Amino acid sequence: MKSGRLQTLINQVNTIINGTGMALPLNVITNKDLEEMVETSDEWIVSRTGIRERRKLEEGMSAVDLAERASLEALKAASLDPLALNLIIVATVTPDYPTPATSCLLQARLGAFNAGAMDLSAGCTGFIYAMTVGHQFIQSGVCRNILVVGVEVLTRITDWEDRGTCVLFGDGAGAVVLSASDEDRGIISHSIKADGRGAELLLVPGGGSAMPASLESISKRAHYIKMNGNEIFKFAVRVVEDTLEEMLRKEKLKPSDLDFLILHQANLRIIEHIRKRLKLPREKVPVNIDRLGNTSSATIPIAIHEELTAGRLHKGDLVAMVAFGAGLTWGGLLMKW
Ligand code: UT7
Repeated sequence: MKSGRLQTLINQVNTIINGTGMALPLNVITNKDLEEMVETSDEWIVSRTGIRERRKLEEGMSAVDLAERASLEALKAASLDPLALNLIIVATVTPDYPTPATSCLLQARLGAFNAGAMDLSAGCTGFIYAMTVGHQFIQSGVCRNILVVGVEVLTRITDWEDRGTCVLFGDGAGAVVLSASDEDRGIISHSIKADGRGAELLLVPGGGSAMPASLESISKRAHYIKMNGNEIFKFAVRVVEDTLEEMLRKEKLKPSDLDFLILHQANLRIIEHIRKRLKLPREKVPVNIDRLGNTSSATIPIAIHEELTAGRLHKGDLVAMVAFGAGLTWGGLLMKW
């Protein structure tokens, strides 16, 4: 047992991840492809971000299509009938529509008619926020099974004329089934934070009530992501370190106690910086940004699914997850797998 606090997981209702799934579009965009579109180079993109390629969802498909595929895989892995779900939470900044929520569309696709459904918008921290919300419903006894999905179709809100952002983002989905369990494992602690003073650092200005769609908003390219990359970079390094430090300190744990540190995939330089500072070996800090780019709220559930299906993540492993993003938001989750 790695800490006294973990002992308290015994003999109470715990929240475990009971099944995972992921879905990616088939369409690959390489750095070479981007060289044809904007003034950039494979060398710049790889050295500044670590990204080599990303996925782009086929026309005619939308967030719910990816979410459905990832969810069906997670439900199958959990051996759970969709009718046993009590709640569906979809974390996304690229819903199918402003209203209704993508989670409602997903509920209908899955036939999960006993589940409430809501979307959650917390930028790239969406998955951590959604897991935290789901955990509260299980802890309170209100729900036994919750589907949490992180899904993004960021290529639809990417400005393909802005080299500062278009090289970064990709599409994808990851899903997990959260279940109530009396096993001695599950979510140990969590932390969700925000600082709205940084809202303008990462923003899609058009399409909401502040700037409804108009010919003018379209001509200003206001429906695409605008980002101050430098500021977000500095913020990210700071909050990831602080969040992790706080979560570990609370549980009297050290970074070396971790079997996995799953970080939001926004830039390989951020991931490597944290990994080296904490002196963690590469195999404990999974990377998918090289193949998938930044898929926002989907980066962490995709990484979990990949580690699990590759046979590297085992029952009892201590796993920390930390994310940051638009809002500004950030947060972390500690769990015993
Ligand atoms: O998911 C959460 C949200 N996003 C993030 O976490 C992103 C965090 N930020 C970052 O990852 C980095 O800041 C970026 C990858 C976005 C940018 O890297 P950087 O090292 O901060 O570059 P920079 O913005 O300071 O730009 C350096 C130079 C500039 O040229 P000058 O002014 O020095 O002549 C840019 O115009 O690189 C230029 N540049 C590019 N050059 C080639 C910017 N984008 C590109 C590009 N190709 N794609």
